[in-house]
Amino acid sequence: MPAIRPITLPSGISVPALGQGTWKMGEDRRRWADEVAALRLGIDLGMTLIDTAEMYGSGGAEEVTAEAVASRRDEVFLVSKVLPSNASRAGVARACEASLKRLRTDRIDLYLLHWRGAVPLAETVDAFEKLRAEGKIGGWGVSNFDVDDMTELARLPGGANVLANQVLYNLATRGIEFDLLPRAKLTGVPLMAYSPVGQGDLTADGRLDAIAQRHEATPAQIALAFVLRHDHVIAIPKATGLDHVRDNRAAADIRLTATDIAELDRLFPPPKRKQPLDMI
Ligand SMILES: NC(=O)c1ccc[n+]([C@@H]2O[C@H](COP(=O)([O-])OP(=O)(O)OC[C@H]3O[C@@H](n4cnc5c(N)ncnc54)[C@H](OP(=O)(O)O)[C@@H]3O)[C@@H](O)[C@H]2O)c1
Repeated sequence: MPAIRPITLPSGISVPALGQGTWKMGEDRRRWADEVAALRLGIDLGMTLIDTAEMYGSGGAEEVTAEAVASRRDEVFLVSKVLPSNASRAGVARACEASLKRLRTDRIDLYLLHWRGAVPLAETVDAFEKLRAEGKIGGWGVSNFDVDDMTELARLPGGANVLANQVLYNLATRGIEFDLLPRAKLTGVPLMAYSPVGQGDLTADGRLDAIAQRHEATPAQIALAFVLRHDHVIAIPKATGLDHVRDNRAAADIRLTATDIAELDRLFPPPKRKQPLDMI
């Protein structure tokens, strides 16, 4: 199996274009072991970027991640997120310490602002830069930022150090193709596509059946291959099913043809004008 295509962040660090999400993990002790096993299998298969957040399972997802990553921390690129309600100077420092503790590590590779809230962006950027200087995070980024937000961010002191913007992107939600995606190409700041299989909805979407059959694949794999075809997009599907983890890894090797893309454009039309950024 060829390696998963790498994507180079503006800091020069390479990460695999396909990682793993953890939302809904760490919420139920009975599913804990399965979640750890799924993440471990994903790491074995090269999906070494793991996306988590202080919000998920109220810290539980970070703890599941810690268990999956234990003893192989250096193989993994850890992404976590601070809530907007913790995005003040003191709040970011406190939230990061708590995440580091739950993750049982001394460094978060990429620390994101989960979405914009009431705290001035400049203050959050300042706090992120301090964490970076202290070595507690490798770098920082944002999530759910539309084009205007990215432009505002770029003008702030330190704002040019943003490493990624994590946004909702899948076949059924293509608004970013109009502006955010071209901007990512222009600036080299990659997008991380969350909910790339539509939170499971696209995995049972009959409209994908014909293309899936042509590739001897599942609809979920076609949905993932669609997102992964862009040079500046990292996809982070969440899967607890081991078969789902394997399928997701295999999707990184699917090359959609021009005919496939034309068919997908007919079934899930691309945006013709600016659409406000969708978020979950
Ligand atoms: N920044 C943000 O605001 C934000 C918002 C939402 C999500 N996220 C991040 O993005 C990650 C992914 O998004 P998501 O969890 O919302 O949705 P998703 O990855 O699109 O979908 C997850 C669902 O799809 C199923 N699934 C995954 N792969 C499959 C496959 N190959 N075949 C069939 N079913 C499959 C999973 O089932 P099983 O678990 O049973 O395998 C799960 O029910 C999150 O976990 C989180 O890390 C970020």
